[in-house]
Amino acid sequence: MKRIAVIPGDGIGPEVVREAVRVLKHLQDTKAVELEFVDFDWSAEKFLRDGVSLPPGALEMLTAEFDAILAGAFGDPRVPSNKHAEDILLGMRRGLDLYINLRPVRLLNERLTPLLNRKTSDIDFVVFRENTEGAYCAAGGFLKHGTDDEIALQEDVSTRRGVERIIVAAFEYARENGRKRVTMADKSNVQRFGGDLWQRVFKEVAKTYPEIEANHQYVDAMAMHMVLDPAQYDVIVSNNLFGDILTDLGAAIQGGLGLAASGNIHPGKVSLFEPVHGSAPPLAGKGIANPIGAILTSAMMLEYLGFQTLSNEIEDAVRGAISANETTRDLGGQLSTQQAGAAITARLVNTGKK
Ligand SMILES: NC(=O)c1ccc[n+]([C@@H]2O[C@H](COP(=O)([O-])OP(=O)(O)OC[C@H]3O[C@@H](n4cnc5c(N)ncnc54)[C@H](O)[C@@H]3O)[C@@H](O)[C@H]2O)c1
Repeated sequence: MKRIAVIPGDGIGPEVVREAVRVLKHLQDTKAVELEFVDFDWSAEKFLRDGVSLPPGALEMLTAEFDAILAGAFGDPRVPSNKHAEDILLGMRRGLDLYINLRPVRLLNERLTPLLNRKTSDIDFVVFRENTEGAYCAAGGFLKHGTDDEIALQEDVSTRRGVERIIVAAFEYARENGRKRVTMADKSNVQRFGGDLWQRVFKEVAKTYPEIEANHQYVDAMAMHMVLDPAQYDVIVSNNLFGDILTDLGAAIQGGLGLAASGNIHPGKVSLFEPVHGSAPPLAGKGIANPIGAILTSAMMLEYLGFQTLSNEIEDAVRGAISANETTRDLGGQLSTQQAGAAITARLVNTGKK
């Protein structure tokens, strides 16, 4: 039995997570997998109502009682400070030490990419984004706040331990999954300290994986190459900020944010799975959000929990639904969020439980 904490969150989060859970419950009814779902209402709504974002003791409870967390998205115009989202999402990423943000970029159907004449095999790589430090560690401050002489400092923190473990994770993944190359993106030509550390550690780690090609690109050049020649990438490793930006570009070339999945992982520990997209307030409540990002996220979660075959079956069902144009409008189809989720569920072959 695997216990899943479900945190739908804000905006389109609840709508897309409902469809991911529908797929998982179908597998639970028809295949050899036992899942238990427990819902948590941590969201802008709760924050505005009760003043609670991430409740006290939440991290300890998640660690002690759950195998994985499935989240939607956090962000609501009624909370302009975004405080609840920061507390909940960054709180879990940092508090559970989920140092790997794993974001696959895979073209599931040639018609989805805005790039011309690309085959599905041309866009198939994974990004390892460092997830606990970098520019997202809230270090900095203001001097002379609100005056004409104001100074804002925003620190970008790289620790030797943090850099090494994400680079090792990228090479380990390459080794285990038959990938041939790991490419590091940085800006070490101008970020002389953090960049220098990343460079040194990358070279050291690469030496211990002689069968894997290791190369490096400046992040601005990578953004260009990702559009012009995405086929060159197998595994990309980068810091928190660059990884965030590169994976939105990655999402765009695989067909849009509505399709992109991600895992926030600490191997061997309770890990958090969420679609890459945010809460998309303009789409919320309309039943038009694409549930595929959330559904592929649930497939990543199953893979993490040891159910590789079921994960592949979900991906095949998604591929089939896209080929048949059984999709939401953003992918050119006519279906609602719920209908798109049902169409994918219907494609999962029933084998009869155990
Ligand atoms: N992980 C997260 O929880 C997360 C990530 C990014 C943004 N946010 C938050 O979400 C809110 C909105 O941010 P944003 O507009 O910059 O990004 P967003 O990802 O919510 O939406 C950007 C655009 O992408 C498209 N899109 C996103 N998801 C889609 C889906 N499932 N189906 C179809 N189209 C989809 C929509 O056109 C949308 O307008 C903000 O509050 C932001 O802070 C949260």
